Formats: sequence, structure tokens, C-alpha cells
Amino acid sequence: MAVTVLVVDADPRSCADWGALLSDRGYDVIAARDGEAALKLCPSLRPDLILLGGLLPDMRGLEVCRRLKADPRNRLTPIILHAAVGDISDAASAFCAGADDFWAYTPTPWEALTRVHSLLQLKTYIDEQAESVLFSLAQRIEARDPFDGSHCARVSNNAVRFGRSLGLCQNDIEALRIGGLVHDIGKIGIPDAILFKAGPLDAYETKIVMEHPVIGERICAPLKSFHKVLPLIRHHHERMDGSGYPDGLCGEQIPVTVRVLQIVDICDALTSERSYRRNLSLPSALIVLREEAELGWLDGALVNQFASLVIGSEGSIALGNRRGLGSAEGAKWSESVLSGRLNRRVG
Ligand SMILES: [Fe+2]
Repeated sequence: MAVTVLVVDADPRSCADWGALLSDRGYDVIAARDGEAALKLCPSLRPDLILLGGLLPDMRGLEVCRRLKADPRNRLTPIILHAAVGDISDAASAFCAGADDFWAYTPTPWEALTRVHSLLQLKTYIDEQAESVLFSLAQRIEARDPFDGSHCARVSNNAVRFGRSLGLCQNDIEALRIGGLVHDIGKIGIPDAILFKAGPLDAYETKIVMEHPVIGERICAPLKSFHKVLPLIRHHHERMDGSGYPDGLCGEQIPVTVRVLQIVDICDALTSERSYRRNLSLPSALIVLREEAELGWLDGALVNQFASLVIGSEGSIALGNRRGLGSAEGAKWSESVLSGRLNRRVG
């Protein structure tokens, strides 16, 4: 992935000079001419480093730095605050505002490139460590579950397989792989007594559980490599008719990767034993998915495509259930479900 540097500078000549110097070294350089433009650009651009001028037309660089670092999505992004020539009075304020480096003068090209390179190396190292911590955290959460410690691994594998069968692009497939592993990472904030309660949750407990997508998004937001995974974490409990949470998204507002993950996640959960119920057989789980599509919760077309994939795999897809679907049983079930004749829960 190309390294992107955002240069925030009011002076067009200075912007062009930094752009030329950094582009020569293979960096993608994007320019912003004022603070508001930089603040607006960062959430979508997710730069790897920001070179921020001290004096901008609409606000001071210090203020931009403070506001960027207050956003969890930018917390791990190195910011170099480049003050006016010879002005070292802002040095202490720059570090208080979260700047990772402070230039009180314009360094030579060699020094500038060396300092940029060092910060980027440090960022790569921190990102790798943070990723590994997040995957360990996700595993740790699963290990707390006395009934099933490999649900997320299965969801990840099956979401990738389902995504590939739909012809999704490689970026989406990678998002599904990571999203399958970490989509429930926010459950770290839910007490075990609620998470593994044997029996129905009361209104308060339900409200607590419903916070896990937002908690998970907050945990993963600082990592640029998780940028495309955040919607899967935040929205995996949305419903097509808008009755889901946390944002009540409808239909196409829910990204296709999320709709894919939901189906795989629910199917695996239904075919797994839980503290509050026994596992369903695969045919029964597929019927529940079909019912949920008819209720307006899941994407019906995708449910049908998933059913075709599972049935066509003749039991080679590992799900939470203890047995696969034999070919004869699959063919019979396929004909019934895909024609829409079976629309009630059985078994
Ligand atoms: Fe969840």
C-alpha cells in the first residue's frame, strides 16, 4: 500500500516544494490549504503522516493538531508541526497538542526526509503491534465463551468464501477476513454475567449488549489498516428494514460486506450451541435466515446465494453444527427453500 502524506500549508509554493520532495521518494502527497480542509479530508484519506504548517488562513496549526489527535481515527497518525521560521515558542504547546515532531525551522531536504522516514517506520511498527494486540484481544474474548472458542475464525473463513463466490473485490475480501475475526471485539466491554447469561436478557442487559458494535469501532478506529473493517464492526447488527442498531441503516445503506458477514455470522451462531439454547441443524438455520429475510432484516437475495453455496459445498464448509448437509438432503432442501415454499421455522 502506497504511503500517503498530507501536506497542510497555506503557501502554494511551499506545498509544491514539499510535494516534489516527497513524491520523488515514492510517497503519495495530498495538499490541503487550510485547517478546515485538512480536518474534513483526514477521516476519508487516512494519511500515514501529516506535515502541518503552523500558520493557516483559518486557524493555527496547533488547533488543527489538537482536533486531529482528539479523533480516535487519527490518534496513531504522526503529525509534524512546522512552525514559522525560527519560532520555537510553540514547541511545548505542540507536544501538548499531540504533535509527534516539531520543526521550528525549515530543515534541509535530507533532514526532512530522514525525520519523515523515521516517523513512518515507527508508525508501521506501532500499527503491526496494535494489529497483533487486537487479534489477540478478539481471541481472548472468544476464549471466555465456554461453548465456542472458534466462532470468529469460522465466520472469517466462510465470509471470505461467500464473498469470493459473489465476485467481491480483493479489498472487500480482506475486510471480510479481518472483520470476521474482530467484528465482536467490542464485547470486551460487556460483563461475562450478561454475555453468557443462561436465559433471556432484561431491558438493561440488552441495552448493554447493544453497545458492543460502537465499543468495537472505537477500539479499532486508530488503525489505518482497519479502515475498511470499521463498517463491519459498527454495522453488523443493522437490519435491511432499518430496525437494527446502532444507526438504523436501511437497505443499500448497509455495505454489501456487512450484509455478507451478517448472514455468515448468524448461520454460524444458530448452528452453534449457546448457554441459552441448543444448536440448530444447518437446514433449520437456513430456514431461520430465510425467515429473517422475509421479515425484512436480512438481504433476501444474498441469503439465497449463501444457501446455494452451502448446499453446493456438500458439507465442506465448517459451521458451528456437528454435521454437514448431505447431497441428497441438500438437493431436497435447496428446491424447497429457493422456491420459497419453506418459510416456517422447523426442527
Ligand atoms: Fe455482534
